[in-house]
Amino acid sequence: RRAFTVAIDGPAASGKSSTARAVAHELGFGYIDSGSIYRCATLLALRQGISDAAEDRAGLAALVGQADIDVRIRPGPRPAGPGQIVVPDVQVLLDGEDVSRAIRSPEVNRLVAAVASDGPVRDAVLRIQRSLAAAAESLSTARHPAHGGVVMDGRDIGTAVFPNAELKIYLDASAMARAIRRWDQMSSQGNGPAGSADAGNAQEQPPAAHSSVEDIARELEKRDYTDINRKHSPLRIAPDAVVIDNTNMTFERQVHAIADLARERM
Ligand code: C5P
Repeated sequence: RRAFTVAIDGPAASGKSSTARAVAHELGFGYIDSGSIYRCATLLALRQGISDAAEDRAGLAALVGQADIDVRIRPGPRPAGPGQIVVPDVQVLLDGEDVSRAIRSPEVNRLVAAVASDGPVRDAVLRIQRSLAAAAESLSTARHPAHGGVVMDGRDIGTAVFPNAELKIYLDASAMARAIRRWDQMSSQGNGPAGSADAGNAQEQPPAAHSSVEDIARELEKRDYTDINRKHSPLRIAPDAVVIDNTNMTFERQVHAIADLARERM
């Protein structure tokens, strides 16, 4: 039997990554953070001194194609109590180097949407996404022969990467709720409160030392605008996606709702 695929898409800071990791843990599925692959491509561009001018990026797709990019799930913090949700950590390796923190720098945050709008770069990333998903799937299927699967989050997973995914979720929240959550994550970085969904995991770093919620909202808006308006696989709601607006939803409820939908369709 073919493994089960859950695609989770949505705008920046809608909670896709922590939700997807928790759902994967709950179901015993593998997990791939597709944004981290675009972030590795962006780090490569920065390190090679490639600006966001289109002609400069011609060689980047080839560089990405040659790079060894791996996204691994690390055993996460133990649940604080029975029934508590586990959100495993993710480690990102670029040619063997742990870049989990480096790919969340302000420079990468600023440039990533421009890099991700490049067609040849997207083709190179697509190949990496599919091969990482196949590896994660077979690991999960080896452990759970009847119910193996993979969860992947991003912007175009349900529309372009896995258009036949068994379950597609479009996760959304109001722009202000997303900015406030990202701000909370950033200010608790390094000493994340117990119970915070992302405690202990590498977080995006703020654009400046004392950024306000408004600064962060502006940065998220800019990135969403680029993602929605690009030519190649823009951010869209797949026609068969289940839309979940989590502005007023607890993290637990949202994770259980998605895991239940997957179980119903397995
Ligand atoms: O998910 P994250 O915020 O880390 O993604 C960073 C950027 O990577 C996005 O703003 C988008 O430009 C790009 N991306 C994409 N397609 C995906 C995942 C991420 O274009 N599937």
